[in-house]
Amino acid sequence: MVPEIASRRHLEVLNPLIDEAVQKSRLGWQDIGGVCVSYGPGLVGALLLGVAAAKTIAAVRRIPLLGVNHLHGHIYANFLEYPDLPMPALCLLVSGGHTALIVMHSHGVMELLGETRDDAAGECFDKSARILGLAYPGGPVIDSMAREGNPSAVHFPRALSEGSSLEFSFSGLKTAVMYFVRSGGLKEHSLSDVCASLQKAIVDVLVRKTVAAAKRTGISTVLMAGGVACNSYLRQAMKTAAEANGLELFRPSPVLCTDNAAMIACAAHHIFQQSRTGSPLTLDVCPGLAI
Ligand code: KG4
Ligand code: ZN
Repeated sequence: MVPEIASRRHLEVLNPLIDEAVQKSRLGWQDIGGVCVSYGPGLVGALLLGVAAAKTIAAVRRIPLLGVNHLHGHIYANFLEYPDLPMPALCLLVSGGHTALIVMHSHGVMELLGETRDDAAGECFDKSARILGLAYPGGPVIDSMAREGNPSAVHFPRALSEGSSLEFSFSGLKTAVMYFVRSGGLKEHSLSDVCASLQKAIVDVLVRKTVAAAKRTGISTVLMAGGVACNSYLRQAMKTAAEANGLELFRPSPVLCTDNAAMIACAAHHIFQQSRTGSPLTLDVCPGLAI
């Protein structure tokens, strides 16, 4: 992704997108009681455009503004479909930029248990796909190619999987894929087998650490969030692991796992219900915002 191009594209699409959203909602501007916006983490240019647009709407319409942490938004995608899910809940957040295990104690109160030391799981899917000559974003492509493949065909490394660490590391796996391709691995194995094996290497670690975190915290409600939570193999593996370990698993529909505005609105709704205070019009972007 080229940050400058992404920012320019945001500028082009933002106003038409807002118009289309208002039209499709069949609401008028007078029916809208507040505006929320993701203010981080993310690319600074894209965040600046969103925050400037939201502030403008809030100021002109004289309605509250509420800045939302993008990562909280991903977790709140669960509440769009399961509004009464029990808390505390343990969330596996797996996206293009983040891989983390988080405890949601109550609305807006999150605790980070562990995260990736380097690449995120989605980044590993995307970068490995590029090495394999597949299209971007690589996650969905690998997911569909892997359906025809044998997940035990190639052994890829599973970093930090021994011991009790709840941290992740995926950059070594990406490098292993690179060496595999350079040493002619694709002549010996079908692309489907490689995709299935790579996907299993990523998913094995995600599932194992989620179950370990559930055992360590004693929390039996488990949520999935982020674009990689669309992955069909991960969804099935999490279901099997939840059943085997007596966990109650919530999996938002794939359309709610990837970036979307509804999840940000859902987070804002719950957080505003609690605090009743919005953000000031001086709200700034925070590209490196933590959970
Ligand atoms: O949450 P998201 O839409 O954006 C971020 O906040 O990063 O996640 C995008 C990531 C990309 O890395 C993409 O390859 C991955 O989610 N992804 C998948 C699948 N669908 C999207 N990864 C694996 N399997 C999928 N089916
Ligand atoms: Zn996201």
